Amino acid sequence: MTAPDPLDIALGMPKAELHLHIEGTLEPDLAFSLARRNGIALPYPDEAALRAAYAFDSLQSFLDLYYACADVLRTREDFYDLVLAYLKRAAADKVIHVEIFFDPQTHTARGIPFTTVLEGLEDGLAEGRARYGISGRLILCFLRHLSEDECLACLDEAEPWLDRIHGFGLDSSEKGHPPSKFARLFARCRALGKPVVAHAGEEGPPDYITEALDLLGAVRIDHGVRATDDPAVLARLARDGIPLTVCPLSNTRLCVFEKMSDHSLPRLLAAGAKVTLNSDDPAYFGGYLNANLRAVQEAFRFDTPTWYRLARNSFEASFATDAEKAGWIARLDAYFKSKQAASG
Ligand code: ADE
Ligand code: ZN
Repeated sequence: MTAPDPLDIALGMPKAELHLHIEGTLEPDLAFSLARRNGIALPYPDEAALRAAYAFDSLQSFLDLYYACADVLRTREDFYDLVLAYLKRAAADKVIHVEIFFDPQTHTARGIPFTTVLEGLEDGLAEGRARYGISGRLILCFLRHLSEDECLACLDEAEPWLDRIHGFGLDSSEKGHPPSKFARLFARCRALGKPVVAHAGEEGPPDYITEALDLLGAVRIDHGVRATDDPAVLARLARDGIPLTVCPLSNTRLCVFEKMSDHSLPRLLAAGAKVTLNSDDPAYFGGYLNANLRAVQEAFRFDTPTWYRLARNSFEASFATDAEKAGWIARLDAYFKSKQAASG
């Protein structure tokens, strides 16, 4: 019997997604339908014109469009629709657990109440669990282009809802906004007993990864792909088993790497870093999680054990309970065993 194709195995394997901005799942068709429902005009005449604007040359060029499109999200139902549309696609890619970033400041700055956002997202997660069996958690991300005081005010608003917020993160424009700007904010997050993650080493230097670990207490680094620029930082990440939530299509679309074959992913893996694969803002970057796996496989031709390791990392690096993780890893093992048995 012929050996199964590692890509087919990877596409079908159960997996977790740990780096996903819900605002980055807003597809053009949903954006226009929400704009119509809410009586808003988008700054583009139609879906094709909007899609044509997805030619980014940097993180900032993407963020400008991403924040503009988020304006169509107004009601609890809008956030519900957004989450359900994402979960439907995630289920098709065999995602069984997702940790979703949301940016409340993007919405509260426009007068949308914090509770509208949170309750809509929660409604979507509950329906997604019922329909697709996907477990979900919410991670509140602070916008680093804003001041620490503005982020502290956002944390004040979030405090009554802490039982619904699993952790805290840091996103938006990285360059010029180092983690050190937010040391007080994240000290408060940690004092609330919540895990902290941070985008670092996406466009910014490896020093930002060190700051995220040492000054913010981050237990997972979002992106971290520039760790390969500093062997000491990379060695530390590997030694301490700090998970990296790598987003390959995002990194090529935002010109962090010119092409996929230039991506640091194989070097991160070779150094022993605990890498996970994720889609970041899939509506804007050319595809959801399995599209990322396809693009990676086209460039790097990983073997089946590497795909197993990546899926296993996604569960181990999650913020789920030990019992949940053990259950998912048992499912993953059973899946790989069945593939082995099928290939004789
Ligand atoms: N917000 C949404 N996507 C992001 C990314 N890739 N980096 C930083 N902030 C973001
Ligand atoms: Zn991100």
